[in-house]
Amino acid sequence: MVDALGLGLGVTMLLIVVALHFSRGTEWTPGEDISKEVLERRASTVPETDFPEPMNRSIGGGGGAVAVGGGAEGELAGDEEDEDEGFDPDAIADDEVEYYEIEFVNEGETIEVANNESLLDAGEDEGWDLPYACRQGQCLSCGGKVADGDAHEYVRHTNNETLAADEVEKGYVLTCTAHPTDDFSLETNETP
Ligand code: FES
Repeated sequence: MVDALGLGLGVTMLLIVVALHFSRGTEWTPGEDISKEVLERRASTVPETDFPEPMNRSIGGGGGAVAVGGGAEGELAGDEEDEDEGFDPDAIADDEVEYYEIEFVNEGETIEVANNESLLDAGEDEGWDLPYACRQGQCLSCGGKVADGDAHEYVRHTNNETLAADEVEKGYVLTCTAHPTDDFSLETNETP
């Protein structure tokens, strides 16, 4: 004998399942996608930078490194007077490498630095714990100062995206990208 109660329950549940299957839900529709609007509103709160800026000092300001060569030359030209542009120390032939006497004032020593070597690398080779961050001329962490004079006379930068021409004139250098062109005294850990 089939249990009438069990059969009744089974049929009831089947009917519920079928009813749910064919029901049309609440007809709730998601609101419109506002993510684009939110992004635009956030973007509008960020000041126009026309990145990369010659004066941008942020660490890693740099996706800019590539863009500088590409688009913004016109804008940078006035500010940077970048006579070092295109300087590639790796292109210096071995028999053309020149050495200069660099006095690291704070470290209390004078060492020879080759013109295909950065001041930072040379100092680190001595075991000195010198400051740095990006090592690409995009911040100021490695800043140093030619003790006496216009740094244009003493170094060439392979890349300088942070120091303005007048700051270099006051002696400031980025030791990570500065290569000597003469003897001089260097104060490490100096920034404008
Ligand atoms: S370490 Fe960033 S500019 Fe030298």
